[in-house]
Amino acid sequence: MLDLIFPYYLWVKAAHVVSVVVWLGGQCLLVVQLASHRQVLAQQGNADLLSAVEQRCLRLVVNPAMLATLLLGATLFFLRGPELLGEGWFQVKLVFVVAMMALHGAIAATVASLRRETVSAIRIRALQLAGLMLTAAIVSIAVIK
Ligand code: HEM
Repeated sequence: MLDLIFPYYLWVKAAHVVSVVVWLGGQCLLVVQLASHRQVLAQQGNADLLSAVEQRCLRLVVNPAMLATLLLGATLFFLRGPELLGEGWFQVKLVFVVAMMALHGAIAATVASLRRETVSAIRIRALQLAGLMLTAAIVSIAVIK
C-alpha cells in the first residue's frame, strides 16, 4: 500500500499543508469571532445566531481540516519510516501538535460555554495568542528542521 502511494509523496505533503492552512486559518477566524460574540452577548444578552455560526464553522471546516491534517501527517510519517521518530525536529513538532490539539479542545469548549454564559476577555485573548505562537512554532520547525 505505502509503495503505491510513495511516488505521490509531494502531493500528500501539499495536501497536508493545504489542510493545515484550512485548520489553523479557520481556527484563527473562529477565535476572532468569539471576541465579537462576547461583546454582542454583553450588549444584547442573546447571541444564538453567532453560536450557530460557530458550531457550523467547527463542524464543517475546522474539525474536518484537523482530521485531514493528522491523517495526512501520519501518512507522510509512515512513508518516511519510523527512523523519523529519532529526529529532534520531529519530536518537538509532535509535542507542539499535541499542544495545538489541546488548544483546539479549549476553543471548542469556549464555543460551548458562550452558548450559556459569557467568558472572560482574557480567556479569548489567551486562545488567540496561544494559536498564533503554536502556529509560528510548528510551521517554522516543519520548514526549517
Ligand atoms: C498543526 C499541525 C501541523 C502543522 C502546522 C504541520 C505543518 C507542516 C508543514 C508546513 C510541512 C511542510 C514542510 C516542508 O516540506 O518544508 C509539514 C510536513 C510534514 N509533516 Fe506536518 N504539520 C502538522 C501536523 C503533522 C502531524 C500530526 C504529523 C505526523 C503525525 C506531521 C508530519 C509531517 C511530515 C512527516 C512532514 C514531511 C516532512 C518532509 O518531507 O521533510 N505533521 N508539516
